Amino acid sequence: MSVRTRYVIANWKMNGHRDLVSAFNQTFANYQGDTKVIVCPPFTLLGSNWDEQIKLGAQNMSEHAQGAYTGEVSSDMLKELQVSYVIIGHSERRALYGESDQLVADKVQSAINNNLMPVLCVGETDEQREAGETFHVVKKQISTVIEKIGTDALTKVIIAYEPIWAIGTGKTATPAQAQDVHQAIRAYIAESNSNAASQISLLYGGSVNADNCSELFEQKDIDGGLVGGASLKPEDFHKICISV
Ligand code: PGA
Repeated sequence: MSVRTRYVIANWKMNGHRDLVSAFNQTFANYQGDTKVIVCPPFTLLGSNWDEQIKLGAQNMSEHAQGAYTGEVSSDMLKELQVSYVIIGHSERRALYGESDQLVADKVQSAINNNLMPVLCVGETDEQREAGETFHVVKKQISTVIEKIGTDALTKVIIAYEPIWAIGTGKTATPAQAQDVHQAIRAYIAESNSNAASQISLLYGGSVNADNCSELFEQKDIDGGLVGGASLKPEDFHKICISV
């Protein structure tokens, strides 16, 4: 058992209304697990009343501090709503909204500057895995961030490895496949900063559910999960949280 902080993070994506917040509050009122439970609802629900067992994260934020950026939300606006975490560079943002590695790095830097903990998402497509490029892709995604923030600051970051072919598909990476990439990420960080490598929490995401979570979370370098679909069902999500 590692001493690293273990997390289960719910990514509701563009789903959920106030009734889901109430259902979560009821389900988690007596939660006593050691794993940190973070819910990332749509922006519109961040200001709701949340049970104190649940910590809040946003799904995205602007790299800018303020100004003429219609539709964007800044890190200090999130802080005002008691948000402590923010997902950065989710594959849906990279693919659908054109977020580049450089933009993702700028956002990570901006989150850290404002004491928000970024949850940096990385992962390869099906084609990239088939071509044997998985680690090359993941390393590039991480190295662009390291060039921007340095390796010491990685202790203020969570990395979520989410193979794109496993997101929302029901096709989970096997525990061994996930562990391989997690181990490679930790080894890559250790090349330049062994302290950061041993401290950083690395989460797995991609079709995690109440049935497959235990096997994944048992792996040596997997410190929890980032959960999409199954995080919309409070009971299932609770099961996942207590299985870490
Ligand atoms: P999924 O989504 O659990 O529905 O695969 C995970 C994610 O996109 O973070």
